[in-house]
Amino acid sequence: MSAAPPAAGPSGGVISPGNVAVVTGAASGIGLGLSERLAAEGMAVVMADVERRALEGAAAKVGASGGKVLAVPTDVSHAEEVDALRDEALRAYGAVHLLCNNAGVGGPHDPLWTIPEGDWEWVLGVNLWGVIHCLRAFMPVLLDQPAAHVVNTSSIFGVFAGALGPYGISKHAVTALSETLHFNLREVGATVGVSVLCPGAVKTNFGSSDRNRPADLPPPVRTRARELAAASMERFDRLAAAGLEPAEVADIVVEGIRSSRFYLLTSSNRDDAVRRRGEEVVAGGPPAPPFP
Ligand SMILES: NC(=O)c1ccc[n+]([C@@H]2O[C@H](COP(=O)([O-])OP(=O)(O)OC[C@H]3O[C@@H](n4cnc5c(N)ncnc54)[C@H](O)[C@@H]3O)[C@@H](O)[C@H]2O)c1
Repeated sequence: MSAAPPAAGPSGGVISPGNVAVVTGAASGIGLGLSERLAAEGMAVVMADVERRALEGAAAKVGASGGKVLAVPTDVSHAEEVDALRDEALRAYGAVHLLCNNAGVGGPHDPLWTIPEGDWEWVLGVNLWGVIHCLRAFMPVLLDQPAAHVVNTSSIFGVFAGALGPYGISKHAVTALSETLHFNLREVGATVGVSVLCPGAVKTNFGSSDRNRPADLPPPVRTRARELAAASMERFDRLAAAGLEPAEVADIVVEGIRSSRFYLLTSSNRDDAVRRRGEEVVAGGPPAPPFP
């Protein structure tokens, strides 16, 4: 991978024994992998997730390997729950040095105009508003530390074009949010670093993220367009099943924070698609499909 410009701050010492990390979406997949790794580095880890039972099990697993862990059930799409998460973290450990905004859901891949309002609200509520709520709640705490870092989990589909419904749109927004945050922090001379994690395929429970679709949303309507979208979902799931282990992604994140990388890509097999996007923009497009 080519060298990246440095992130916003000197984050080398953030991952140190005794420092505190908050990880959202920590009960499964990448969030659990990150929690395990950060705990193994000696950090106190505040694990937040909307799935209470899975969170309890995940926190017990991290704690059993000697990690210092606090589990806080949290729906990141609700500002008041995120504020409560920050308060719990500060009550337990007095500071936060690393914020991993990782919780995310997939949602429908149907044509955009057919997607019900409730599904838009769910996907953007978790994937985008969740990050916004966490920034509003935690940035004042991070800015108080001598060294701190934010990692936002976007996706490789937050970098190049795709047809993954509100998901891809939310992930482009998370990439743009991270870039904006980087500039904002540099402008005020803050010592808080930023990275945006843009994974390719990773072996997680992401394919079943409808398990967290709000129960009060109307059931999906069967249409021809929906069947085509289901095929896209299946292809996506097959890719994820052949992907990296969450522990490998955690290695990339830890190394990325230590070396102040901003963009954290996990799969070099997508580099050409990233380059192609820049060329398409300059040439006037249209965008090529991500999987030719
Ligand atoms: N797995 C992949 O191939 C892949 C690729 C690119 C990006 N990502 C991103 O990685 C992140 C983690 O996903 P994963 O692959 O580990 O999937 P996962 O389903 O295994 O884990 C996601 C976690 O987020 C939690 N969550 C869902 N809604 C929440 C909410 N409202 N509040 C708090 N927690 C909530 C889930 O309960 C789950 O524990 C997501 O942002 C996803 O978009 C994953």
